[in-house]
Amino acid sequence: MNLNCTITFTVNGKKKEIRVDVRQSLLEVLREQLGMISVKQGCAVGECGACTVLIDEVPTDACLYLAVWADGRSIRTVEGESRDGKLSRVQQAFVDEGAVQCGICTPGFVMAATAFVEKHHDQKFSRHEIRRGLAGNLCRCTGYDTIVTAVQKCLDEDDQ
Ligand code: FES
Ligand code: FES
Repeated sequence: MNLNCTITFTVNGKKKEIRVDVRQSLLEVLREQLGMISVKQGCAVGECGACTVLIDEVPTDACLYLAVWADGRSIRTVEGESRDGKLSRVQQAFVDEGAVQCGICTPGFVMAATAFVEKHHDQKFSRHEIRRGLAGNLCRCTGYDTIVTAVQKCLDEDDQ
């Protein structure tokens, strides 16, 4: 039985056409075929958010998402967030506020935070609401305070 098929999608603004096994997750295809190693495998069961990418601007666990479902869609990963060597403003806010944590959880947090900031750029949120907005992303070892501060800073800048 042939379990391979060709999908066409956009990754960080670039069109890609690749052969995938219909059983492969988007996480596997992004990491192993396209070299997008910012997309981390943590739990692999949709609990931790380490594999968060934006699919048509919606934060999504790539470990639970079959690559074939991405056909025709647009994917964003951390690799595409900086431009001409300049960090995105969410990335820069993470650096400025000391919110960059380990290499496993940080890429997913950056993508979830990016989606949150872009969706809510003209709104005000309490720290508690921002935490709820990022509830799909877990860190097993530190606090979330600096991440919330970085997101709040981006929202506050938009409000000025
Ligand atoms: S690796 Fe996908 S949610 Fe944990
Ligand atoms: S899981 Fe990354 S710093 Fe805790």
